[in-house]
Amino acid sequence: MSPAKSDSPLGPELVLAGSVAKRVDVLVIGLTTGPDGPEASVGDALDDATAEAVLAGLVAVGASGKAEEVTRIPAPSGLPVTSIVAVGLGAPDAVDAEQVRASAGAAARALTGTAVAATTLSALDLGAAAEGFFLGAYTFTEFKSKSAPGEKSQPLGRVELLVAAPRTAAAKNELARSAAIAEAVAVAREFVNTPPSHLYPEEFAARAKALGTAAGLKVEILDEKALEKGGFGGIVGVGKGSSRGPRLVRLTHAGGRGAKKVALVGKGITFDTGGISIKPAAGMENMTSDMGGAAAVIATAVLAAKLGLKVGVDAYAPMAENMPSATAQRPGDVLTQYGGTTVEVVNTDAEGRLVLADAIVKACEQKPDYLIDTATLTGAQLVALGTRTPGVMGTDEFRDRVARISQEIGENAWAMPLPKELRADLNSKVADLTNVTNHRWGGMLAAAVYLKEFVADGVEWAHIDVAGPAYNTGGPFGYTPKGGTGVPVRTMISVLEDIAANG
Ligand code: BES
Ligand code: MN
Ligand code: ZN
Repeated sequence: MSPAKSDSPLGPELVLAGSVAKRVDVLVIGLTTGPDGPEASVGDALDDATAEAVLAGLVAVGASGKAEEVTRIPAPSGLPVTSIVAVGLGAPDAVDAEQVRASAGAAARALTGTAVAATTLSALDLGAAAEGFFLGAYTFTEFKSKSAPGEKSQPLGRVELLVAAPRTAAAKNELARSAAIAEAVAVAREFVNTPPSHLYPEEFAARAKALGTAAGLKVEILDEKALEKGGFGGIVGVGKGSSRGPRLVRLTHAGGRGAKKVALVGKGITFDTGGISIKPAAGMENMTSDMGGAAAVIATAVLAAKLGLKVGVDAYAPMAENMPSATAQRPGDVLTQYGGTTVEVVNTDAEGRLVLADAIVKACEQKPDYLIDTATLTGAQLVALGTRTPGVMGTDEFRDRVARISQEIGENAWAMPLPKELRADLNSKVADLTNVTNHRWGGMLAAAVYLKEFVADGVEWAHIDVAGPAYNTGGPFGYTPKGGTGVPVRTMISVLEDIAANG
């Protein structure tokens, strides 16, 4: 039986409730843009007269119901709360799960400093409301020694999710699943937001191990010596410019007899200076996010174990710091990827594909049915699809399945091709391959064409490039804060659930 509440240090406590209790500070309701002005979405939490008074109060201060608009008014007398927060849901016929998630997130961001909130958004979609509140309330404050003037320091403490039948197993299970998913997203964000001074391969591996062990996963870590000995030329080559050696972490969740096997591979560059092919200074600080893929696969493997998914998950996170130094690899060096393919490293800034290729070959030794890799791989992803839309490439059927599921859950990955002609542009004069094409066209696709060389025949494969979507350098929106976003954890867990259900 699942608990009726969920508690995590990474976000507010989430509890089910049937009515608004006395100890609640704020009641959060939804507001749609009806044909004759805004309409309140209050479930059965308020009687008709109170609902009408609340709506009149909101209209009086200009609330319109447009998506994510947040309006706060004093509560009418008779309600056991101090204030009402109305959050816009947009047009009534367009309110779907993702809109509830986004509006709940926008409300949560406005509730910093609130001890206890209750909400009627859960009557529209319990799971989406729970995820939205938890994810919208997330902040990363580990390195703030004091809060800025006017900033409320206490995070949102608790959210009571109002539903018609709070004691049913269905409601409890839905909340437990959504709380676990939201927590996994927050775990990935936490990794991404931890600065490279504090999160380097050895430390990243140790934190992954602690999480994995606590969730009952099997954990294996290869250190720099083991990687060298094992022939992981890509991970070793990228890592050798740093004083902090590389690692390869493997987390395994056994899915039970007869279960499908899914390999996950995530790029874990704890900082990407570009190496000897050094990046320009402007914006380089954002390369703290270059381990977003590894963060997501680690969080997803841990989540698969917590949810007890009937699918085998083997997660690989190659970790390295890409630094320029006297020991760094040079443009023109040749390395041997795990499995024997030789590569001329023409550009040391195309390092992600080098660490991924080793891990992909290793993962394929287990003969998985499916392989998903994810990485902050190319600036070209941002050029092609913008900051919020991951690109997904791979074998046609599985690629389309991943894109469809990603769109259903609001991470919105978009299917992209693997143009055949790009393969010849990776030919090297001295080795089997170069790590970059001799031109910049279709850079996201070219990186995927490189990775394709390392995926074993017969494995259904999807590569998700999250260069932009893993890290929000703009302002917060919906349930997405500044910084680490946790994308594509929700896509991957939904794909795993779909595989568990449908093969
Ligand atoms: N980590 C970067 C890609 C990236 C860029 C992530 C912007 C997030 C935001 C990756 O290692 C990289 O440097 N890629 C190069 C590849 C090029 C040298 C072929 C790029 O995109 O410029
Ligand atoms: Mn790079
Ligand atoms: Zn990189």
